[in-house]
Amino acid sequence: GSRVDSIMLVEEGFSVTSVDASDKMLKYALKERWNRRKEEAFDKWVIEEANWLTLDKDLAKPADGFDAVICLGNSFAHLPDFKGDQSDHKLALKNIASMVRPGGLMVIDHRNYDYILATGCAPPGKHLLLAASARGSASTACWVTSSPSSPARPTPPATSPSSAPAPAPHKFRLSYYPHRLEAFTELLKSAFQGQCQHSVLGDFQPFQPGQAHTPCYFIHVVKKTG
Ligand SMILES: C[S@@+](CC[C@H](N)C(=O)[O-])C[C@H]1O[C@@H](n2cnc3c(N)ncnc32)[C@H](O)[C@@H]1O
Repeated sequence: GSRVDSIMLVEEGFSVTSVDASDKMLKYALKERWNRRKEEAFDKWVIEEANWLTLDKDLAKPADGFDAVICLGNSFAHLPDFKGDQSDHKLALKNIASMVRPGGLMVIDHRNYDYILATGCAPPGKHLLLAASARGSASTACWVTSSPSSPARPTPPATSPSSAPAPAPHKFRLSYYPHRLEAFTELLKSAFQGQCQHSVLGDFQPFQPGQAHTPCYFIHVVKKTG
């Protein structure tokens, strides 16, 4: 993420390189960097236009790679399966993984699409990341999901007051690729050619399959061992 996560990391003193393929999105980051340019950490913040599908060409990699590559806020689900065989997902993940130094981490998340596809609705509870990335932007389009075979119907949040008219969150339709936990885990392991340690968090807590709490987000943490 180029905005909220990056800003927090810059504020914490990390050397941060942020990329997005969308110049509109980059504009927010560039504006923030400009506004805070008197702070040394912000002056050094690197912001680049780069596409995951051409990351090797778009972004100069530090000698060994980055200590950590972070892709949060359900961002990866924005990448369509252009060819219907997930080859673009595989290419993008391979490119992202190649930016991680040996011993470094990749942190990448997606919404709990297993639950959404099974039930047609989002898990109850707070949407931690959306809440975080909604700072200053409207982002309640989180109800809209599409699946190649069975489009899930957008469902209004269970918490919406029943007296008020139902909100119309599906006036515009965003399409996300509904990554499933097991399939995405396999994609990640392939991206590292098996040279990794993989673990999963549910809403940033340790996750056990079958646990009582249904997470809204799965966060994959992959350590490159090779
Ligand atoms: C949920 S938004 C996150 C926006 C912003 N990075 C942030 O953290 O606030 C997902 C972002 O993924 C970006 N994205 C989608 N496909 C991409 C691709 N192939 N390469 C690079 N970025 C991509 C979109 O441009 C969009 O800004």
